[in-house]
Amino acid sequence: MAEPSKADRKANGNGKVKIAAVGDLHVQEDSQTSYRDLFGEVSREADILVLTGDLTNLGKPKEAELLSEDLRACSIPVVAVLGNHDYESGCVDQIAATLRQAGVYLLDGQATELMDVGFVGVKGFIGGFGPRMLGSFGEPAIKTMVAESVNEAMRLENAMRQVRAKRTLVVLHYAPIVETVAGEPPEIFPFLGSSRLAETIDRFKVSAVVHGHAHRGSYEGQTPGGAKVYNVAMHITKPTGRPYALIEI
Ligand SMILES: [Fe+2]
Ligand SMILES: [Fe+2]
Repeated sequence: MAEPSKADRKANGNGKVKIAAVGDLHVQEDSQTSYRDLFGEVSREADILVLTGDLTNLGKPKEAELLSEDLRACSIPVVAVLGNHDYESGCVDQIAATLRQAGVYLLDGQATELMDVGFVGVKGFIGGFGPRMLGSFGEPAIKTMVAESVNEAMRLENAMRQVRAKRTLVVLHYAPIVETVAGEPPEIFPFLGSSRLAETIDRFKVSAVVHGHAHRGSYEGQTPGGAKVYNVAMHITKPTGRPYALIEI
């Protein structure tokens, strides 16, 4: 894992920063899977690694510790958001602390600048897309759910306002558009993300957006305002032919 000072090194030859992005690692306590080789590989291929949540499978502290050990093989800066699975065991603070201790720039409604790129991260939430998006009507439980969706969009907006860099990568767990969840059963589309995130993104100048969560979704799409969106869940087929996407901005 890189020291923060390495984050200040200059962008590569063409002036662009090469970002490796992958989500939904779902690290398990009893799994034999190690991500060490993969992290070593992305360190050779990219300038920065971005992880789009569901880093652990059941949100257990031990799972975060195993991931942190594997991240020692990563020699480039790591930016991440958490996903819904990371909340499952009610240990999210412990998981966040473990990852931050490992040097991860864990974003939850904040922005950070590395190599002249602003990284803006928020988990996002469910709620559906376009005119079919769930509205705040009826039972208090529905209103609470919609309020959480609106709240995540507002936290994204506040984080966007912190960015001073000319290039910005938005890092989410939930999808901001329906195109990149296509491939999943339509019945679960509303649980895969929310257009409220895209509405916020389109109020700013954004270079690209990455998300995960929709394991069977589609790789590429764009917001109504034209921001490129990539579903980088590790199960998604990508142009790299590898579990991670490579995005130059
Ligand atoms: Fe996932
Ligand atoms: Fe998820």
